[in-house]
Amino acid sequence: MKIEELFKTPIWVEEKPEFIKSLNKASDKYINASKKREKEFIKKNGDFGRSYHSTPLLDDNDFIDLRNYVGQKSWDFLDWCGFDMQRYTTIFSEMWVQEFAKKGGGHHSAHVHWNQHVSGFYFLKCNENTSYPIFHEPRTGARATKLIMKPNNGLAHGNELIHFKPTPGTIMIFPGYLEHEFAVDFGKSPFRFIHWNIQAIPKMMAKDA
Ligand SMILES: [Fe+2]
Repeated sequence: MKIEELFKTPIWVEEKPEFIKSLNKASDKYINASKKREKEFIKKNGDFGRSYHSTPLLDDNDFIDLRNYVGQKSWDFLDWCGFDMQRYTTIFSEMWVQEFAKKGGGHHSAHVHWNQHVSGFYFLKCNENTSYPIFHEPRTGARATKLIMKPNNGLAHGNELIHFKPTPGTIMIFPGYLEHEFAVDFGKSPFRFIHWNIQAIPKMMAKDA
């Protein structure tokens, strides 16, 4: 029997280790500043469970190579999906770096970023002991009619969740509608990544703006 796989969810994954060193260096001051901003909270409640988020990175030229690279890739991604990109301009809505707590407990519950067309990650610090992204089944109909899965079946069409283990240098580009979360980190090793979101704006609107 011929198998058609229709309405698939694409996730582009690429290894780009050449950005790791410079972007870790450029990120240090943002993570330190974030910890400083939360100093009083940490003093009172400890560091457990925290995620230290930077201020926006979009105006910092130290990140321009990554921005240009993933910006173009995100346009290519939408174009490859079949959207008529001659009608749209892509813009970054946000880009920031974050690091999970030293004492563990860092995580993010499941979410989508509202009104975004492409989302992405670049992993700077991670290993087999750290947190990692978990993607959720985006098809609401499929989600509502799941059955119990066979034990230890691995990757299958019925999965509700996909656990993805990145390495430092992994870029992930995926549709903005794809719900994602980050597994609870045990604080064994540093976990740091850059996250961004991109909107496609109709060119007529971009011209009027
Ligand atoms: Fe996110």
